[in-house]
Amino acid sequence: MPPEVREIVSDEEVAATYPVMRQLRPHLEEEGYVERVGRMRGEGYRLAAVLDDGRVRCVAGFRVRDFLYTGKHLYVDDLVTDEHTRSGGHGKLMLDWLADEARRSGCGQLHLDSGVQREGAHRFYFREGMRISSYHFIKEL
Ligand SMILES: CC(C)(COP(=O)(O)OP(=O)(O)OC[C@H]1O[C@@H](n2cnc3c(N)ncnc32)[C@H](O)[C@@H]1OP(=O)(O)O)[C@@H](O)C(=O)NCCC(=O)NCCS
Repeated sequence: MPPEVREIVSDEEVAATYPVMRQLRPHLEEEGYVERVGRMRGEGYRLAAVLDDGRVRCVAGFRVRDFLYTGKHLYVDDLVTDEHTRSGGHGKLMLDWLADEARRSGCGQLHLDSGVQREGAHRFYFREGMRISSYHFIKEL
């Protein structure tokens, strides 16, 4: 069976995304991960995964939002492919699914922030037709 993208809903499925999510978010402890995702779900956060032979190969966290400046859009919080299976097309499969999900939800755009050091990811986003639209400012409090 070819790899497929599926929205992740049950606690068991959420737990199975942890080993891949941790590769992008190493500060996240396994303990409490499922509960945290459950809490964030209440704020609109959702997870999807690329599954290959039942194994999680790529994970995305996302949400649909509406902002005055841009209208309804799908925002990608997290996107990561298992380090052992990168450059195999899983990231593209996921990004295409996210764009389809955005269209299904009535969104006009896909948005994400990417750390300035993530040059490989930036190449991937440019290749997939994305562009840089703004600076993202942060102040530690
Ligand atoms: C960015 C990321 C999610 C892309 O996922 P991926 O599964 O490797 O993506 P793809 O395989 O679809 O495409 C990536 C590369 O593989 C190549 N590729 C795509 N399909 C391919 C295929 N079928 N066979 C071989 N190579 C392929 C592409 O040319 C691309 O190369 P490039 O990065 O040099 O431009 C992944 O590299 C990753 O997890 N990076 C670390 C975490 C990270 O930075 N995440 C982004 C946070 S903003």
